[in-house]
Amino acid sequence: MSSADDQKRAAGAAAAELVADGMVVGLGTGSTAVWFVKALAARGLNLTCVATSQATADLASSLGLKIAELGETKAIDLTVDGADEIGPGLSLIKGAGAALLREKLVWEASGRCVVIADAAKQVAVLGSKFPLPIEVVAFGHKTTALRICDVLSEFDIAMMPRLRTRDGAPVRTDGGNLIYDAACGRIEEPAALAAALKSVTGVVDHGLFLDLADLALIGADGGVMTLEP
Ligand code: A5P
Repeated sequence: MSSADDQKRAAGAAAAELVADGMVVGLGTGSTAVWFVKALAARGLNLTCVATSQATADLASSLGLKIAELGETKAIDLTVDGADEIGPGLSLIKGAGAALLREKLVWEASGRCVVIADAAKQVAVLGSKFPLPIEVVAFGHKTTALRICDVLSEFDIAMMPRLRTRDGAPVRTDGGNLIYDAACGRIEEPAALAAALKSVTGVVDHGLFLDLADLALIGADGGVMTLEP
């Protein structure tokens, strides 16, 4: 049986083959995206890349890829990024790496989005394995968390989201915001929940990526599986 890391590497390498010379490419964040960035750099193409996090920008630059800011290139042709969960219709949960806001900005600006993952990321119902990350502004965040809790309860999700911390301190995103993780269990109405969360003042964005992925490349024992919405 192939390891999760082997599967991530295979998916990243397969995605790198989708890139053609001269493209503007969105670079995702996370351990699977790292494999993609490495495989892409190894191809030696003439590209302009838009990174979804400082960590990815640093890696890509160190490998010789040219990085530009979002909005300062021609349109992004293709973005390749990982996911925490891949549900029905290629609905996704993203954001375990705290890069969800920049990821969504880049995905939404891209002509085509490809999600790459290991086989364990596939779920029948979103929310069943990973908590849903919700990015909030720091000012008044405890009040915002209570309002998020109220919204979740309207969707029969009874839980208090938890402030993400590392080494005893709140995790800050590249934009200086905080992350709350909501262990939803089952998200039966992702589109309605996505809209309701966005309507809470203080919520910057959330990790539900709906109707954004055009293709999934999923590493599995027999090779790389291709899924469409
Ligand atoms: C980053 O914020 C995330 O959206 C990642 O893309 C996601 O967590 C997948 O990460 P891995 O590729 O490390 O599993």
